[in-house]
Amino acid sequence: MDRNPFTPGFGLTPPVLAMQGTPVEDFAEALEGTRPAGHRSVLISGARGVGKTVLLSQFHDVAEEVGWEVIALHTSSDSLADELRGRAVHALRDLDPEARDSRVTSGSISALGAGASLGREISDRYEGEDVPLAVLLDRLAALASLRGGGLLVLLDEVQSADPDQVHVITQHMQDLAQRGHAAGFVAAGVRAGVDELLANPKTTFLRRAHQVEIGSVDVGIAAQVIMTTVADTDKHITPEAAVRAGEISQGYPYLIQVVGAEAWQRSGTSGTIEIEDVEGAREFAIDAMVHNVHGPALRDINGRKDEYLLAMLEDDGPSAVMDVARRMGIDQNNQNVYRSRLIADEMIRPAGRGHVELAMPYLREALIRRRDGGRSALAHGPARVARPIRASRPVQGDRPASGTRPGRRSERGSGR
Ligand SMILES: Nc1ncnc2c1ncn2[C@@H]1O[C@H](COP(=O)(O)OP(=O)(O)OP(=O)(O)O)[C@@H](O)[C@H]1O
Ligand SMILES: [Mg+2]
Repeated sequence: MDRNPFTPGFGLTPPVLAMQGTPVEDFAEALEGTRPAGHRSVLISGARGVGKTVLLSQFHDVAEEVGWEVIALHTSSDSLADELRGRAVHALRDLDPEARDSRVTSGSISALGAGASLGREISDRYEGEDVPLAVLLDRLAALASLRGGGLLVLLDEVQSADPDQVHVITQHMQDLAQRGHAAGFVAAGVRAGVDELLANPKTTFLRRAHQVEIGSVDVGIAAQVIMTTVADTDKHITPEAAVRAGEISQGYPYLIQVVGAEAWQRSGTSGTIEIEDVEGAREFAIDAMVHNVHGPALRDINGRKDEYLLAMLEDDGPSAVMDVARRMGIDQNNQNVYRSRLIADEMIRPAGRGHVELAMPYLREALIRRRDGGRSALAHGPARVARPIRASRPVQGDRPASGTRPGRRSERGSGR
């Protein structure tokens, strides 16, 4: 039996992608020069778990395929510029035939046998801190262009980066392009954080970048992705099961993977994934969404914004903003403030005149759990009685004979 092909983990590229439009192909054309070079600077944004990191890796792969040198920076580093320098030096040592000067330092050159007895000193022309970063980047871009490429710098989780540091990097990339080099910069981040970053005057470059917004796909596409993923393996999924899986995923990329993986698991050794396997995966998918997506996001939602969301729970569908204001005991202007903030947080979205609705799959379930069970209900799931995997460590005087493993509790598995 083939391995479970779904990838319900952040940053993992699935075997089959749900894709809106042709962002990867467009980017490849920009790198190759059939599209304007301006499209080599891209800002990918979207809610948590919609596939920003995966799309960024697609850009990485396609760039390498067309001969570009790619440097992926980490927002967790202390200094993005230092990291860029380090990575540029590393790449230059590989690419630059003159990276190491080999010099004769001793011995004499005779007509015969030259070389054999000579002392040589290998010096690294990129050692030390004195080469300006701009010079390193120039050299790297020039070498990459010899093989028909250029220099691409990637930055994921850009919303967590220091705007001053982002500014330094984008300025370098912009200067490179202005000096006639093939250069590109792609950043990805959560919509709300990206909006905040773009409001900073230091990030004008990003504002002008080509914007790629990603979100959920049609449930029909989600069903096709699940069907195709399974079709590439030795299992099979019934069309009804695939359609139902698409519906449960609500077209949200992370959920496509979670529902697919869980339904696969539930089908066990059977060659076919049936609709029951998919139905059975629904609760699991909601749990995964609540714990891994909504839990972390709701941690930042407090006070009036929290009250706003709770006031919306009284309606089964979209809420009239007038009702929300009344339930909260605030006036319309005030209501508008929190409405706008929650829209920026991607928690709610407008739903026709004077109405708003919850913006993410299973956010309602997450809010209800938080309301009824407190914040810990989001972090761990409902409380239950469980047995330890291994028996507790033996207390002194109760040691098992040496060489034996701690015994399992005799009652383990009974009474269930
Ligand atoms: N285009 C896609 N089609 C189907 N599934 C996808 C796609 N892109 C990503 N996924 C799946 O969705 C999940 C989230 O992907 P990814 O980590 O790229 O999201 P993200 O937007 O970067 O999330 P975060 O905001 O937490 O960084 C993963 O399980 C991944 O396999
Ligand atoms: Mg990501």
